[in-house]
Amino acid sequence: MAFGDDDTPSLPLNEDKDPSASPSNPTRSLPTEADGAASIESITHKIQESLSVSKRHRFWETQPVGQFKDLGDASLPEGPIEQPITLSDVRPDTYTLPALYEWSTCDVDNDATAAEVYTLLANNYVEDDDNMFRFNYSKEFLRWALRPPGYFKAWHIGVRVKANKKLVAFITGVPARIRAGNEVVRMAEVNFLCVHKKLRSKRLAPVLIKEVTRRVHREDMWQAAYTAGVVLPTPIATCQYWHRSLNPKKLIDVGFSRLGARMTMSRTIRLYKLPPLPATPGFRNMEFRDVPAVTALLRDYLSRFVVAPDLDEKDVEHWLLPREDVVDSFLVESPDSHEITDFCSFYTLPSLILNNATYSNLKAAYSFYNVATKTPLLQLMNDALIVAKQKGYDVFNALDVMENESFLKDLKFGPGDGMLHYYLYNYRLKHALKPSELGLVLL
Ligand SMILES: CC(C)(COP(=O)(O)OP(=O)(O)OC[C@H]1O[C@@H](n2cnc3c(N)ncnc32)[C@H](O)[C@@H]1OP(=O)(O)O)[C@@H](O)C(=O)NCCC(=O)NCCS
Repeated sequence: MAFGDDDTPSLPLNEDKDPSASPSNPTRSLPTEADGAASIESITHKIQESLSVSKRHRFWETQPVGQFKDLGDASLPEGPIEQPITLSDVRPDTYTLPALYEWSTCDVDNDATAAEVYTLLANNYVEDDDNMFRFNYSKEFLRWALRPPGYFKAWHIGVRVKANKKLVAFITGVPARIRAGNEVVRMAEVNFLCVHKKLRSKRLAPVLIKEVTRRVHREDMWQAAYTAGVVLPTPIATCQYWHRSLNPKKLIDVGFSRLGARMTMSRTIRLYKLPPLPATPGFRNMEFRDVPAVTALLRDYLSRFVVAPDLDEKDVEHWLLPREDVVDSFLVESPDSHEITDFCSFYTLPSLILNNATYSNLKAAYSFYNVATKTPLLQLMNDALIVAKQKGYDVFNALDVMENESFLKDLKFGPGDGMLHYYLYNYRLKHALKPSELGLVLL
């Protein structure tokens, strides 16, 4: 179902609307390949971002998050910014929405509801700075992302138009255990914040954020982790996307990348060509029986990073067992000892290609968690590229988190123009992290 133009009533102005707010819509930018000849618009955007540390944040300044004014103040302790309140004191009622709208818990197990969420996001979620691509999370992906062990239905929050029940805004949380330094903290991972294009800049996002926070508090959780392409108070880390072309001709045709200087199309195709099969003996799909070995590998590996998820076998089964067109995981089983020595994974997040006559979908793989103990990481990731190519992906994306920097350049990834900022809600870290100190990938 496509959104018609006339069944989304416009919102009355909200009291806390900031008249000085910038007219541009802040988005988590969908990364595209960096380009020497970047558009004026994206340059403007970057300048605005770099200035935004001094910008007022009428909502975020009221929240228990690291504030810009406290940057560099080493006297502030690491840990929760505010202490939990008594559970019975958590506000029992939902926050007030403008009169024409109502809250709606979205059961993504229900096909019709999942289709509504899918459509809202497919039409209104994150775009790149030049509005050429928009994330196109599949229904199956959304079900996977929103229903991990211990999930709460009430944390999948929609806003509907009262009159016709059309879904016009969305935000979600899922529970996770995240370690920060030596502390494992129960947190919500908050994601899929989306407001219909016709309802933007009316201060609906803060209402959604307050409502998800309230529902998280009701479960006796007081912290959250989230990412955004925009600078808010205050990132714990700022990471960069890198892109490895698998289908360079299509990427160039749709404007995702450009032909390099002094390059022809056929040279470019040759440059990115990959062998037909993975090189590592014992490289195979992860199966259910591998869950304990993969959990052990991952737990050991993730313990090296300052912020990382604390995964048990149930989590690994959910997050990493392969699901077609959602998540792929491979491992290396030593042909001699049958020991599981290495692991790599990626998730599938296609983008809609807006306004292209030939292509409508970009099939992208996103590097997830990778652990190399015997196989060199470079070789393991080259095998991941090979299987992604075999499976028909156009591009393989990776953040510069964990040890990814060690293979990005050698494996012909190019830097993207999208930065991804990581945030914690109600938790202060003493120091901002380098991407390589971060062991967390959010979807
Ligand atoms: C992100 C989105 C929901 C914000 O809604 P909006 O109508 O543009 O903004 P509103 O007027 O409702 O709210 C503005 C407030 O939300 C904050 N905000 C905007 N984007 C945010 C984000 N991604 N995460 C957290 N807060 C955000 C703003 O900083 C501002 O608060 P401040 O005054 O303290 O700075 C909307 O632009 C959207 O759906 N964009 C496309 C999808 C997207 O980018 N989602 C976020 C993915 S991380």
